[in-house]
Amino acid sequence: MKNIRHFLTILDLSKAEFQQIIKRAIELKAMRKQGQIFQPFPDKVLAMIFEKSSTRTRVSFEAGMAQFGGHAMFLSSRDTQLGRGEPIQDSAKVISSMVDIVMIRTFGHDIIEDFAKHSSVPVINALSDEYHPCQLLADMQTYWEHRGDIQDKRVTWVGDGNNMCHSYINAARVLDFQLSIACPQGYDPDSKLLEINADRVTVFRDINDAVANSDLIVTDVWASMGQEEEQLAREKSFAAFQVTPELLAQANPDALFMHCLPAHRGEEISVDMLDAPNSVVFDEAENRLHAQKALMEFLLNSSKE
Ligand code: CP
Ligand code: NVA
Repeated sequence: MKNIRHFLTILDLSKAEFQQIIKRAIELKAMRKQGQIFQPFPDKVLAMIFEKSSTRTRVSFEAGMAQFGGHAMFLSSRDTQLGRGEPIQDSAKVISSMVDIVMIRTFGHDIIEDFAKHSSVPVINALSDEYHPCQLLADMQTYWEHRGDIQDKRVTWVGDGNNMCHSYINAARVLDFQLSIACPQGYDPDSKLLEINADRVTVFRDINDAVANSDLIVTDVWASMGQEEEQLAREKSFAAFQVTPELLAQANPDALFMHCLPAHRGEEISVDMLDAPNSVVFDEAENRLHAQKALMEFLLNSSKE
């Protein structure tokens, strides 16, 4: 019987596994920078199911699998039977019978859970409305490279209590850091997640209070994919929640700034924020490649008979 490992949320990894993946990502990155060819998966196929747009996730998974010597197949719901209502469980059984690993970007998290339940190969959550765990692997790799272990540090999330924020809450739990969340009333993260993690997660209404003593400031768009119609209302609600170099100056002196991208300059960040000295957003974006290669290697190797 095959023991299949999925990656649907950060909680699918132990602390040791999370750290092992980060360290391996750093190793794979160094190997690539040295021009080493490493192709452990020449016969493997990754299916990439996209029901939402993507730049980083698609490029990093597809390039990563190609670098491993394998093949990646882009499946848009627009051109497959998924978009015409074929049940998830049927799609999962069929697709997983032909490929070795699957990643899915979709709306409801239950869709990914349902797919994983009926899949005979590892399934990776490449973003759902509720979680974006792959981004956290890259973010935590980036923190490690610049500042070392994040344990006992303070991270501040600014903005919407969205999929990224939920994954930060899970990462705080697994990697043992403190998380301050600055968000306007009505945009809090999931109340159950807050309750379970009350020992390490605090919600603030004042952005200045939330960044005090922080080692990492993170933000994201005010309106996520699927919330386009709320854009104008959200611009009003979040007006006081813009991250600027001045705000970063109120955190600890070596505090870093991250954003999963795409960013909207003039909304959640000031026009100069991405280029500020402590901004590591482009390292963070590149690390999607290395972190997900380490993740795919981990899932493929630990899902063997
Ligand atoms: N950060 C991220 O997931 O980017 P994409 O939407 O471009 O994949
Ligand atoms: N919260 C954003 C993240 C994009 C990578 C969204 O879901 O659209």
